[in-house]
Amino acid sequence: MDHFLYRNGALHAEDVPLEEIAAAVGTPAYVYSTATLERHFRLFDEALEGLPHLVCYAMKAASNQAILATLARLGAGMDVVSGGEYARARAAGVPGSRIVFAGVGKTEAEIAQALAGGVRQFNVESEPELAAISRVAVAGGHRAPVTIRVNPDVDARTHAKIATGKSENKFGVPISRAREVYAEAARLPGIEVVGLDVHIGSQLTELAPFEAAYRKVAALTETLRGDGHDIRRLDLGGGLGIPYRNVNDAPPLPFDYGALIRRTVGHLGCEIEIEPGRLIAGNAGILLSRVIYVKAGEGRQFLILDAAMNDLIRPAMYDAWHDIVPVVEPDPGAPRVDYDVVGPVCESGDTFARARPLPPLRAGDLVAFRSAGAYGAVMASEYNTRPLVPEVLVKDDHHAVIRARPTFDEIISRDTIPEWLRQE
Ligand code: LLP
Repeated sequence: MDHFLYRNGALHAEDVPLEEIAAAVGTPAYVYSTATLERHFRLFDEALEGLPHLVCYAMKAASNQAILATLARLGAGMDVVSGGEYARARAAGVPGSRIVFAGVGKTEAEIAQALAGGVRQFNVESEPELAAISRVAVAGGHRAPVTIRVNPDVDARTHAKIATGKSENKFGVPISRAREVYAEAARLPGIEVVGLDVHIGSQLTELAPFEAAYRKVAALTETLRGDGHDIRRLDLGGGLGIPYRNVNDAPPLPFDYGALIRRTVGHLGCEIEIEPGRLIAGNAGILLSRVIYVKAGEGRQFLILDAAMNDLIRPAMYDAWHDIVPVVEPDPGAPRVDYDVVGPVCESGDTFARARPLPPLRAGDLVAFRSAGAYGAVMASEYNTRPLVPEVLVKDDHHAVIRARPTFDEIISRDTIPEWLRQE
């Protein structure tokens, strides 16, 4: 459930009509609902109640500091994957002790940054990385807390571009080699092993792949403990999917996911960390856009919007489906027109949907892309020198711009024309 509902014939974000936001901020714009973010975080937190745990929001999904601060106030930790995300999380008020640092390519500078600022743990993905962390830690007089991310060779049965738990993927160390890598970790002076980490992919719509992975993690935990390692934390990754189509799309709920965690690893006495991103932010955000033109093509109608692939790349990149709804509530009996919904960018990939049945729309009408809160604004670019799409956060009956739309001057002033081009 989210908080984007029709009321008095108009789509609202909580108690704010989207029309009002469009008038104040312009379009395209992302709009997030505080109540939905909070609700989704709490679903995970409550699903793990009774187990020592920390829900580390995967901030790559939506990393505006206002979103981070909303979740941090509820006690969320953060899963960060870059020095930039680390700095953002800290700027939003998240203490280092609640930040886990993930990613296959951490640089020495990023490692040093996190050690100096404080970090809960690094989730280590390779032996060279382990060596680098030890080196940087020793140089700075630290001992770095680490988990090793294992690749369990489990098929997450999701889109190939977002599956990460098969042996052919670049992520983690092969589970078959985990004991060797842990032995190496134990020998390194700058490393303190604190646990084990796994993440098998994103937008999982069934629990079975999680179950297969977590059973392997449980068995490995026992083995590693037998080898003398102190496995006291299990980071179980993120990946629980969300409904993108409102009809007949019901992925498992956090509650059932929590029960699965208890069943598979609950007996080990470990502190549990999970890293959900999409489920927290996805249905807590929409992309608001205005129809520029309705264009009659050969046997088709194009709905040309002011949002484009640079603002929401998921359809172009993953053939992803996003529900598109008019902001003015359509009459249920109204006819439907099949529209090809496109943006203004100069390539055919700038297509959000083909032959999408929608009520008849006209230039100037507002539409909302649902389920756009995760991997929406964060993946936006300024392609075609289109200003980076702004973000708005709603709480009850008020809204705030949490990232303003840059002006053309701001955009173009970032370029520098070198001296030799300025001379005659
Ligand atoms: N933990 C790790 C180590 C991850 O790599 C990811 C996502 C997550 C947690 C969060 O997964 P989530 O709960 O959000 O499924 N841009 C793609 C999704 C990429 C996911 C990358 N890793 C999309 O738009 O579908």
